[in-house]
Amino acid sequence: MRKLNNILVTGGAGFIGSNFIHFMLDGNTDFNGKIINLDSLTYAGNLESLKNIKKKYGENRYFFENGNICDKELVESIFQKYNIDTVVHFAAESHVDRSIFGPRAFIETNIMGTFILLEAARHYWKKTDDIFSDEVLFHHISTDEVYGSLGDTGYFTETTAYDPRSPYSASKAASDHLVMSYYHTYGLPTTLSNCSNNYGPYQFPEKLIPLMILNMLEGKTLPVYGDGKNIRDWLFVNDHNKAVWNIMQNAKYGEKYNIGGDNELENIKLLETLIKIVSNQANLDMEKIKKSITFIKDRPGHDRRYAIDCSKIKNELGWKQEYDFESGLEHTVKWYLNNKQWINSITSGEYKNWINKNYSER
Ligand code: NAD
Ligand code: TYD
Repeated sequence: MRKLNNILVTGGAGFIGSNFIHFMLDGNTDFNGKIINLDSLTYAGNLESLKNIKKKYGENRYFFENGNICDKELVESIFQKYNIDTVVHFAAESHVDRSIFGPRAFIETNIMGTFILLEAARHYWKKTDDIFSDEVLFHHISTDEVYGSLGDTGYFTETTAYDPRSPYSASKAASDHLVMSYYHTYGLPTTLSNCSNNYGPYQFPEKLIPLMILNMLEGKTLPVYGDGKNIRDWLFVNDHNKAVWNIMQNAKYGEKYNIGGDNELENIKLLETLIKIVSNQANLDMEKIKKSITFIKDRPGHDRRYAIDCSKIKNELGWKQEYDFESGLEHTVKWYLNNKQWINSITSGEYKNWINKNYSER
């Protein structure tokens, strides 16, 4: 088992990154080192998700650096300042719809940003030519969307050929290739994971589940793209975090793992379950909410089906999911109902303007 001490978490103010930081510091693991969170606080980054974290876990466990992963000097200085031995790289532009309207930021952050981090790790960790210090690791977080779109049958495995369809998935595919190339070319100690759609607390309300929960609570329409029969596999965020930590500690360098929920659902079926849970928990009229489902113009290039075969991580590393979809969703809805302050802090002017502009054009 690898001993990891000073972990640079990029994008730790975002959805999965902030959950990962809580998970790591909250006594779920035997990790007793430091977490350094580098985040440029884009519209999707919110320090409210990490409120009181120093008070809770101690001054010496968590450090925040406000900055961009594309800033080479800053990234290099962070490696020096904290003697970083591990990177877990979450920072990204992550929303497919935004990548359709404005792909540039995706290319910059997801490709260039990953390159800057890989270079910094390579130079800081290298002892002599192609020999790296022991106990260092660059873990890259990626998506099942790099594999493209499935028909009615089949699953993505770790050897499925990449076939990305959106600027988002193309930029993530490029970053995956860069990470693997640094392993093969320079021997950089890397691992890589491709996960399915995460859901849970602290997710920004532009993604399907939190957007629908908040729209239900505010009595707004529920916009379903196309015929609503696109399929995604849903993974509870802490099941994802457990898998990531397991890989970081136990996987061989250069390995790649798929992480999924074994939980495929058509969007419209997911919405029906969500309506049931929200109307129960918030005491709202279920029939009225159902009537607010609105089928709208489809997303261009909308991938039809994602389904992930995650038997490799189960068989090799003994990971398994703990949440089934109903219990994960119940937990998530409860969290959104109990965290109004977080919601207020995140639904800022910038987000509202974006939503108003782009949804009015559809
Ligand atoms: P998110 O959009 O919620 O958070 C991204 C975070 O990165 C934000 O805090 C943002 O401020 C930060 N960031 C963006 N650009 C940056 C830059 N240039 N420099 C520094 N920080 C920057 O994303 P998420 O949903 O938490 O996703 C995290 C990672 O997981 C991403 O790499 C994403 O591709 C991957 N992923 C997410 C999902 C999902 O369902 N959410 C599924 C598969 C893979
Ligand atoms: P999303 O949460 O954006 O994740 P991704 O596109 O990365 O899978 O979308 C999940 C699914 O829900 C996807 O098929 C698009 C669909 N969707 C809607 O139907 N309406 C919406 O308002 C959103 C945001 C997504």
